[in-house]
Amino acid sequence: MEQPRNRVFSGVQPTGNLHLGNYLGAIRNFVGLQETHECLYCVVDMHAITVWQEPKELAANTREVAAAYIASGIDPERHIVFNQSKVSAHAELAWILNCVARIGWLNRMTQFKDKAGKDREKASVGLYAYPVLMAADILAYRATHVPVGEDQKQHLELARDTAQKFNNDFAAPDFFPLPEPLIMGEATRVMSLRDGTKKMSKSDPSDLSRITMRDSADDIAKKIRKAQTDPEPLPETVEGLAGRAGADNLVGIYAALSGKTRAEVLAEFSGAQFSVFKPALADLAVEKLTPITTEMKRLMDDPAYIDSVLEKGAVRARAIADPVIARVRELVGFI
Ligand code: TYM
Repeated sequence: MEQPRNRVFSGVQPTGNLHLGNYLGAIRNFVGLQETHECLYCVVDMHAITVWQEPKELAANTREVAAAYIASGIDPERHIVFNQSKVSAHAELAWILNCVARIGWLNRMTQFKDKAGKDREKASVGLYAYPVLMAADILAYRATHVPVGEDQKQHLELARDTAQKFNNDFAAPDFFPLPEPLIMGEATRVMSLRDGTKKMSKSDPSDLSRITMRDSADDIAKKIRKAQTDPEPLPETVEGLAGRAGADNLVGIYAALSGKTRAEVLAEFSGAQFSVFKPALADLAVEKLTPITTEMKRLMDDPAYIDSVLEKGAVRARAIADPVIARVRELVGFI
């Protein structure tokens, strides 16, 4: 079986409230990789149901993530866009990998601890096994590169360990490539606009904590105006942002949206008060995000088109995953 060299796989969960962190930390980087890599971009609906999802909302949110991919510039003709539950290879490989990955590895996963909270006994078994399904997503296509935000680094390490152990256990060196995380840009960890020490997240109860991919220009401007900062002007150097989480976050967002580094942004704005910087950031955010949100809305009004993209993507995804699964079955000894 030929070894892919430049195959990208990544996914986003259809859990609603798609936000600027998802865009800058992940989706925008997906777009750039299309020039150099063969890409599969998945809407991971099976990951979403590790916490309760209202079935009708899950379907709408699945279409919304697909619309966000396409509106951001992912080309579903040249690359593959699909939803996970349509390709049974994910579930099948996940089970086999559940028997390869170790409980000790999963016990170290910080995302499970955060998401399960205090009442761990009540978390679903799926939430616990989430990282193994993620490994299966990647390995079912023998993907080599995985663009993600920084919060997924630990899960990627587990995917690499699982690939390595499978290769060793079944005497198939190099069968699964060890996937490389691609954590790119100035906004690999976008923080909450209400608390610069907490990650921007879909589940934060405060709407003001995140800019979503549905927000109007007015919403975006309001949320940036209300973002938590401090009374000091912007520093001259990146080191000057240390200990100023809110300021660092806004400078990082500006940098990512403008395609500059933090240092370049500070060179432009050093000494500026937030009363000057925030409106500049709001204008930039509106300029970059509004065309995407507008196109997303247009696509969402045509669910039949989105469904046809996902269906065609699934057919192409199966064509890659099926031979991999067939070989895995042989290696494991299934007849
Ligand atoms: P999800 O939906 O939670 O996040 C999707 C992507 O957005 C990134 N991200 C962020 N980046 C920067 N700042 C933030 N505040 C922020 N919040 C989220 C995440 O790192 C992610 O890249 N487990 C994955 C979904 C997944 C997956 C996969 C990814 C399932 N299977 C296989 C890669 C390969 C996740 O975090 O989804």
